[in-house]
Amino acid sequence: MTVTDPTPPAAPYRFLQGNFAPVGEERTDTALEVEGAIPPALSGRYLRTGPNPVTVDEDDYHWFLGDGMVHGVRLADGRAEWYRNRWVRTEAACGALGEPFTMERDEGGLYEGMGNTNVVHHAGRIWALTEGALPIELGPELDTRRSSNFGGALPAGINAHPKFDPQTGEMHVLSYTFVPPFSYYQVVSADGRLVRQVEIGNGGPVMMHDMGLTASKVVVFDLPVVFNLELAMAGVRLPYRWDPSYTPRVGLLPRDAADGSATTWVELDDACYVYHPLNAYDLDDGRVVIDLVVHPRAFDDPERGDPSQGDPNLQRWTIDPGAGRVHREVIDGHGQEFPRGDERLATARHRFGWSGGFPDFDSIGAVGDRPVPVLKHDVVAGTTEEKVLGPGIVPGEMVFVPASPTSGEDEGWLVGYAYDKARGASDLVVLDANDWAAPPVATVHLPVRVPAGFHGNWVPDRALS
Ligand SMILES: [Fe+2]
Repeated sequence: MTVTDPTPPAAPYRFLQGNFAPVGEERTDTALEVEGAIPPALSGRYLRTGPNPVTVDEDDYHWFLGDGMVHGVRLADGRAEWYRNRWVRTEAACGALGEPFTMERDEGGLYEGMGNTNVVHHAGRIWALTEGALPIELGPELDTRRSSNFGGALPAGINAHPKFDPQTGEMHVLSYTFVPPFSYYQVVSADGRLVRQVEIGNGGPVMMHDMGLTASKVVVFDLPVVFNLELAMAGVRLPYRWDPSYTPRVGLLPRDAADGSATTWVELDDACYVYHPLNAYDLDDGRVVIDLVVHPRAFDDPERGDPSQGDPNLQRWTIDPGAGRVHREVIDGHGQEFPRGDERLATARHRFGWSGGFPDFDSIGAVGDRPVPVLKHDVVAGTTEEKVLGPGIVPGEMVFVPASPTSGEDEGWLVGYAYDKARGASDLVVLDANDWAAPPVATVHLPVRVPAGFHGNWVPDRALS
């Protein structure tokens, strides 16, 4: 396959350039070069997934739809024991790979997706997730095991951004479809059973990528990226488009609500799109604070299915259900995505957060030469500090791992992959989250490129039963 270099890049080629391009083989490497010292407290796996199509139809490829490939590095006792990458063995991936399809399936017949959007751990197991799909369980060495509906009757596949309540151990998640009532809220217990399901009822069939969770409420995005039946009928694989006529809203659903009629919907003054919040929490007076990366528009292009238009930045929304308004302020004006915080503070007031400082969409895939810093946000001091890893080194999502269960909010490490353009390969980078001026604590030089992907998590050994 030859990828031309149109300027500006036009989809679908755009999603195949630079470090967006897929890799063609699975590897297991145990002799890994390490610079610096891996903290012995990091005992577990860093797992991250992303689109990595087995085969590509250049004219009909969207980055969001590629076969999932999970890249993992196991750290233990101060050593990097292995790197491995594995396609998630969905029926489509097995077909393209020419392999028999062996994944076990739960009843219900729901779509399993690609496993290309997020990797989480819950109830002692590892799950690869795609928006609107059933979770796919992976083994500790990234073998594909089964899909799961958590033992319940899901009306639709769940989204790929569940929230984990550190107080209860529960997993909270939303799902959506293109038919009324459009959206649902689900709770999966700490031991992995679907224990609660509530219809929400958005205003229409919107793409709802993520959610917010406070101690008392679910934050529901009802924003103008809308399912388009005409495009679907025409065979467009991702038939969602920006709809300027759609009323942008955010909903507050009490976690204990019997049904979605308890949702308070608050309209936004200006339309926008949100993929990812950093964190949300309750104020004592009933308002809700949510920090999040906001895109002025998304999918505002009938040809390309472009995920973003305008410059995304980090904002704080203070949602006042009593007054019926959302107060919006910009926390940091850098172009950015993949915000993450200390998960121990999920649903509670936070001070710090980290994100990738992407000046434009293409820089996620290392297309172009604009530097990409990792950003550390202190929302109490009102500061954002940049950390550029080096010339031509492009980080992806960075995940915070606390130094110990009792350590402070930024006392720990940030872990993630970074693509080194000069080397043509990627590193696993471990940064000191507290000392932003310090060089990386450790850099594991991988022998291969890890294509730009979406989300991952640190899976400590103690999380796997
Ligand atoms: Fe996401």
